[in-house]
Amino acid sequence: MTMLNRPRRMRESSFSRTLMRENNISVSNLIYPMFVIEGTGVRQDIESMPGIQRLSIDELIKDASECNQFGIPAIAIFANVDINKRNQTGSEVLSPDNIIVQATKAIKDTAPDVGVITDVALDLFTDHGHDGILRDGIIVNDETVETLCKAAVLQADAGADIISASEMMDGRMGAIRDALNDAGHTDIGTLAYTAKYASGYYGPYREAVGTDGLLKGDKRSYFMDPANSDEALYEAQLDIAEGSDMIMVKPGMPYLDIIYRLKTEFGMPTIAYQVSGEYSMIMAGVEKGFVEEQRVIMESLTCFKRAGADAVLTYFAPRVAQWLNDG
Ligand code: PBG
Repeated sequence: MTMLNRPRRMRESSFSRTLMRENNISVSNLIYPMFVIEGTGVRQDIESMPGIQRLSIDELIKDASECNQFGIPAIAIFANVDINKRNQTGSEVLSPDNIIVQATKAIKDTAPDVGVITDVALDLFTDHGHDGILRDGIIVNDETVETLCKAAVLQADAGADIISASEMMDGRMGAIRDALNDAGHTDIGTLAYTAKYASGYYGPYREAVGTDGLLKGDKRSYFMDPANSDEALYEAQLDIAEGSDMIMVKPGMPYLDIIYRLKTEFGMPTIAYQVSGEYSMIMAGVEKGFVEEQRVIMESLTCFKRAGADAVLTYFAPRVAQWLNDG
């Protein structure tokens, strides 16, 4: 008998491969996480993230405008906060002119079309590097949530389009939604870091934001255990019931199964965060000549789409946008 099925027929030529391609990453799926620092004219290399810099606000707005020109729909803002402004409770997060507020306003003034995603977590502002308020060795949930709500309103007042919450406190999405609504920000969206794992892949980010030397202990009492999958569904169910507009999985590539499960189960806008450690591992491989830069980056981003992600936070965003736009 002759062989009837030859899947290779459709892989034979470029045109048929293109026609059969099930998933594509496009510029419109990219969110660029950026790091801001005080000063003017500052562009500071981050050693563990080759190609990524901390930017003062004047430089940040240049790069944000460039992202806008490339067609990148949104950026996420993080900051390396002056050490003198960090304390036990992270109270600087509520200061009306803190660096995140200033950066948000500056971007909205110069590139109003760029979606700005801010984050209410306290890690940038605490002197112990934890995401919440630390009392007697415990990250206290409800007191932290009260601060997050105020931070959310402050950031929304500054012009943020989407308020994200990356600290995994219980009940925070609903509380933030209520606080935004009460302040008249009913149309400001919320993004829940729904399944945020207690991961080893955040190391380079902590260098970027300056929490690496500060962090005492680890975040296992509030981030999820990397061994768990059903728990992500439980978290997602709560976040959605609490009014979240988008849900996120973080890190990304080691957790593609979680992205798939959440997208399949809930059908919500689902975001992947390709975190700093993923970025740095790829860059280390590239710098050593072990892997091809463009090829592995595009492959990694296509995987997120295949798993069901609608958009990806990635430090590769501007590079990828240029490749896609030039291609
Ligand atoms: C904490 C926060 C983390 C990241 C962003 N916000 C993790 C952490 O420090 O525990 C990590 C992002 C990355 O690694 O790219 N709120």
